Amino acid sequence: MKHKTLTQYLVEQQRQHQSVSADVRLLIETVSRACKAISTTVSKGALGGVLGSLGTENVQGEIQKKLDVLTNEILLEANEWGGSLAAMASEEMETIHRIPNDYPKGQNLLLFDPLDGSSNVDVNVSIGTIFSVLQVPAEAAGREITEADFLQPGTRQVAAGYAIYGPQTMLVLTVGAGVMGFTLDHEMGSWLMTHENIRVPEQTAEFAINMSNMRHWEAPVRRYIEECLQGEAGPLEKNYNMRWIASMVADVHRILTRGGIFMYPRDARPTGQKGKLRLMYEANPMSFLIEQAGGRATDGHGRILDIQPQALHERTGVILGSKEEVDRLHSYHQDA
Ligand code: AHG
Ligand code: MN
Ligand code: MN
Repeated sequence: MKHKTLTQYLVEQQRQHQSVSADVRLLIETVSRACKAISTTVSKGALGGVLGSLGTENVQGEIQKKLDVLTNEILLEANEWGGSLAAMASEEMETIHRIPNDYPKGQNLLLFDPLDGSSNVDVNVSIGTIFSVLQVPAEAAGREITEADFLQPGTRQVAAGYAIYGPQTMLVLTVGAGVMGFTLDHEMGSWLMTHENIRVPEQTAEFAINMSNMRHWEAPVRRYIEECLQGEAGPLEKNYNMRWIASMVADVHRILTRGGIFMYPRDARPTGQKGKLRLMYEANPMSFLIEQAGGRATDGHGRILDIQPQALHERTGVILGSKEEVDRLHSYHQDA
């Protein structure tokens, strides 16, 4: 069977459906090239001397893995000179990175989590790269980009996606016209479309949450999980299965493939009150993908994509996946 390449798909989207502009198309090509380089770097593991920590902390107060820093550099270097960006922001950098003056500047902003699930690097479990594309707001025309220019709700994303480095390396992408999955053909070096129009099954009996945080959860989450655990005999009348990979990319990929609900809710810990996951680098791009695939994404109180960010590194509670279960847990929040 002959597969369409990522390039073919993007050119078609640009020419026939106008769902992507020429410069965003080039930008996605560049990001996907960087993800190939990341895939190669990650797969070398101990042979490449890339495992382990650096002993430094990032702006989130988390210990940086060597690969957190390396992958951040790969993405910065790949995207600096292409001409479609004005600035970038990353989970691993305190502030934004403006395109240096030696290069032409474009009308887009790129945000990324260069290595998601990096606690899994040393134990050889799937990890990924998450990215999101916004446009330079009209009011910033002709002046230097500031952090405030990035603070746009997720509904303004023009593209988002992730690469997953697992048994297969895949790129899962939306330009607002459904969700497409491309598998990396390592010999050819091309991304080939293997998953057309991915849809999240509306119903599921599989949940993903870090159960060790149970004592910190708010009442609606507690109620929902207790009901799941009661199985067939409980009010939900089905037996649930549980998965938790600790790489959001891998958990979301499973949900896009066979359904499920993913939860990293805000909780009562001083560090958990705004949630753990980052709105701009994790929650927004994943919510865009999930909604484009027919699923739902909420923080328990409202749609994630509607949140007006107040800060670049802001965190949020995240509940996303199959429509029926997400709607149920959302409604438990309203009852409470
Ligand atoms: P990152 O490696 O980019 O910091 O993200 C890790 C995130 C997310 O991928 C995952 O779902 C979650 O943290 C796991 O958190 P716990 O270790 O608290 O389960
Ligand atoms: Mn992450
Ligand atoms: Mn990360």
